[in-house]
Amino acid sequence: MATQLFEGKEHASYYQKFRFEPTQEIIDLIFSYVDERLHKPYGFAVDVGCGTGQNTRILSQHVKKVLGIDISEAQIEEAKKATGSPNVTYSVSPAEEMPVGDASVDLLTACASAHWFNIEKFLKEVDRVLKPGGCLAFFTYLTNAEVHYKDRSEQMNEVLAEVMNILAPYQSEKINNMKTAYKEMYEAIPYPDKRRIENIGTKIRVPLSSLMGVLSSLSAFQIYLRTEPEKAKEMLKTAEERFLQIMETSSTETEVEVWLQNLLLLASKPQ
Ligand SMILES: C[S@@+](CC[C@H](N)C(=O)[O-])C[C@H]1O[C@@H](n2cnc3c(N)ncnc32)[C@H](O)[C@@H]1O
Repeated sequence: MATQLFEGKEHASYYQKFRFEPTQEIIDLIFSYVDERLHKPYGFAVDVGCGTGQNTRILSQHVKKVLGIDISEAQIEEAKKATGSPNVTYSVSPAEEMPVGDASVDLLTACASAHWFNIEKFLKEVDRVLKPGGCLAFFTYLTNAEVHYKDRSEQMNEVLAEVMNILAPYQSEKINNMKTAYKEMYEAIPYPDKRRIENIGTKIRVPLSSLMGVLSSLSAFQIYLRTEPEKAKEMLKTAEERFLQIMETSSTETEVEVWLQNLLLLASKPQ
């Protein structure tokens, strides 16, 4: 089952350490949409498929009370360990059956997670829990990430492409269909007030060690690791060595720039 891909404790700790926070541009787009539809202060937000809580904690700066839910106990355990905001709680729960009351939620987000859910059931559940006028924001990065370093970006991206090719057979079809899935999801949202925003580009500077961490947190890498542990470790080690060689450095703390493309769906339940 797709959800079991996130059950490993070690996998969850990689998530906590290495996953990128949502870009400020996406957070700004979400809250300017919400600002036009709801009155401040916003009372209650739910972050669905919250993983280790990167997005959940950001919401807590804008909303009085935030609940992060995820089907994976290991992910929720890690989320609870992270430096807490007093207005955030977490719960192990499926997206399709949330532990919240009818018409109680002002804002519901799903960050890099909605493509894993049973969309038909999830959207029914979203409709049950959102207040009239309440907003949803589903967003994700896409799989066409690039890595840039000085004038060596082409060589860096060749290494990245080779890694992704090796991982391709282990990639869930949910990931392969990410872009089309969000088109279908958008069409399935039953509210007339909705928006689909594509091509939100992000550039993130991280040490090479963090990029390697992100690669090891990918569900496809985790499956490869379970199937062929030695080959998987060797593949990552070789990729790191090749990156270092191209960058002409021995330090994995040298920064690279990761370019991501994101897409965002926004909608508001009719009053
Ligand atoms: C790619 S991770 C994203 C986690 C986090 N939102 C982030 O941005 O780092 C997808 C998450 O969705 C969760 N998930 C998958 N299917 C789920 C479901 N049916 N109900 C709730 N959570 C689910 C997984 O356990 C995993 O933590």
